[in-house]
Amino acid sequence: MWRVEKKKGWMMALVIVAPELDPSPWTAALQAVDPDLDIRVWPNHGDKRDIEFAITWNHPAGELLQYPNLRCIASLGAGVDHLLRDRSLPKGIRVTRLVHPLQTLRMTQYVLMAVLNHHRSFERYRERQAERRWSQEEIVTCSDEVNVGIMGLGNFGVDAAAKLTQIGFHVLGWSRTEKRIERVQTFFGDDQLNAFLSQTDILVCLLPLTPKTTDILNRHTFEKLRPGAYVINVARGEHLVEEDLLDALDRKHLSGACLDVFRAEPLPPNHPFWHHPRITVTPHIAVGDHPSLVASQIVENYQRMKANKVLLNQVDLKKGY
Ligand code: GLV
Repeated sequence: MWRVEKKKGWMMALVIVAPELDPSPWTAALQAVDPDLDIRVWPNHGDKRDIEFAITWNHPAGELLQYPNLRCIASLGAGVDHLLRDRSLPKGIRVTRLVHPLQTLRMTQYVLMAVLNHHRSFERYRERQAERRWSQEEIVTCSDEVNVGIMGLGNFGVDAAAKLTQIGFHVLGWSRTEKRIERVQTFFGDDQLNAFLSQTDILVCLLPLTPKTTDILNRHTFEKLRPGAYVINVARGEHLVEEDLLDALDRKHLSGACLDVFRAEPLPPNHPFWHHPRITVTPHIAVGDHPSLVASQIVENYQRMKANKVLLNQVDLKKGY
């Protein structure tokens, strides 16, 4: 029998509002942590007054205003831009995001793979393999002469930077506010952006998406990079001005790009990125879903919310991450 929690005459329930996701693995993972949870799945939320905790991914704008007793919103991802773009988000509600070492590990694996694929010319070798052509490319630079510039020095950026230095790259990092990281040359703020870009051969975007970082990967940014630079975007599609990337590739100022995120997802079949010879496309898989690993974090926050305690990984709504 389920324990039914009642408060002021209504039940206490959680709702999953994630129209694009299959909710079953999430419901199962949450109930594996606490079988007594009353979990509803949008749009079958039952009495809206029951809902105190919403678990969301790309919810329909305005939906969260519908729950008069909502106290907390949990993002089903590391990012919260999908939540904060809803201008009608209820005021005064705490928002949390997911942070897990496995997410960081997966992100770092992706970044290393993309950097090394480019640095060791794997794309070119695949083309030559298709032609059965045995042709050895000169390794023109040692990796310690190649500067990898990471934009965004949160959990993901710091871990990727550390691993890249371990395999011999010189790593630069740029963030909004000043950060000091061992063996990484750091830059911060608008004033130091150009100095950072002008020394970068491989640019990795790991920034949160905020009004300040939207469209940051644009023609001006690309112009400042070293000639022949390579761009890896593993943050959000809205960071990239797509026409500016295509233009910089056409002009050969950039040598290529590896993109995991796009302004429209799924990437439309007729999008020029699909068949561009210098662009590698992956379908937003850098981190992936991991309900069974993060469910306990969501349930812990639900319990903390009920006990009026500090929440794990609460988002600073002013900063937007
Ligand atoms: C994925 O993109 C996430 O925000 O976790």
